[in-house]
Amino acid sequence: MPLAHFDGALAVVTGAGSGIGRAVALALAESGASVIAADIDLPAAERTIARAKSNGTGGTAYEVDVADAAAMEAFAAEVKETHRVPDIVVNNAGVAVAGSFLDTGLEDWDRVMGVNLWGVIHGSRLFGRQMRDRVNALPNKPDKPNFGGHIVNIASAAAFAPWRSMPAYCTTKAAVLMLSECLRAELAGSRIGVTAVCPGFVSTDIVKNGTYVDGESGSPEKLRQRGQKAVRLRNYPPEKVAERVVHAIIKNRPVVPVNFEGHLLHVLSRVSPASLRLLARIPAPQG
Ligand SMILES: NC(=O)c1ccc[n+]([C@@H]2O[C@H](COP(=O)([O-])OP(=O)(O)OC[C@H]3O[C@@H](n4cnc5c(N)ncnc54)[C@H](O)[C@@H]3O)[C@@H](O)[C@H]2O)c1
Repeated sequence: MPLAHFDGALAVVTGAGSGIGRAVALALAESGASVIAADIDLPAAERTIARAKSNGTGGTAYEVDVADAAAMEAFAAEVKETHRVPDIVVNNAGVAVAGSFLDTGLEDWDRVMGVNLWGVIHGSRLFGRQMRDRVNALPNKPDKPNFGGHIVNIASAAAFAPWRSMPAYCTTKAAVLMLSECLRAELAGSRIGVTAVCPGFVSTDIVKNGTYVDGESGSPEKLRQRGQKAVRLRNYPPEKVAERVVHAIIKNRPVVPVNFEGHLLHVLSRVSPASLRLLARIPAPQG
């Protein structure tokens, strides 16, 4: 499998209709992969494929809700039947829920756990099994560590650091980091690589589309506006995350912090967890 240059590879990207997912899909297409762009928003996924066709190898758009177990099972089966077992799977679809732990209702927990955690579990489990079975059927397994394929899970720098203003989101991302580490250990013998990518703030629509529960930090609309302003000022493009994803697959990296705050929180989580506990107490900025 030509994972070094992705020529002839088949890549599945969830949440490929916007932001980081779209940038990753386009980067993989530019590197020679045929891309399956999956999103709950089909027209958005189709726009990604239209761009992939003009700049790269192209691919196919699918509508799928990653939180829906039956829909993901049908999607994985359809990919295998209509295309084949993918070489690269990027579990990227995600949503943001902000607000204090005690103000976060069960519906919001269900939604963020469904997309951010269950979506990654479904994608990793269904496509991981396909990849493993394909490798097991081979008489000889070349020594390359991710010869059998590569799964990339988009976690977040929020996986490294607690924050009182985003408890549900941080919880899902810490879980994605841990499941990626466990799966990496399990699939190493099948020559399948697994990477958790952990970016800090990236300029995408996630803040605009997020859910803001009413709490101590102000009205939901004010929280959204503050968040959008912070992400705009941070000005870190999703294309740079996509570059790191491509590099992580080529080098078979286990955990990839991205951008300044991604690296800072990663280092602090290892050398000074106490400092992160103090930072966690800082409330969301007031308008
Ligand atoms: N933007 C950031 O600052 C940042 C930082 C760290 C990690 N991340 C993570 O990156 C990933 C991508 O986020 P983004 O910033 O590009 O956001 P985005 O809102 O721009 O894109 C998310 C995409 O996921 C799709 N999606 C949402 N729910 C879905 C579902 N149930 N099924 C299928 N698709 C669904 C949306 O339609 C959208 O196209 C997320 O997992 C997010 O948590 C983002």
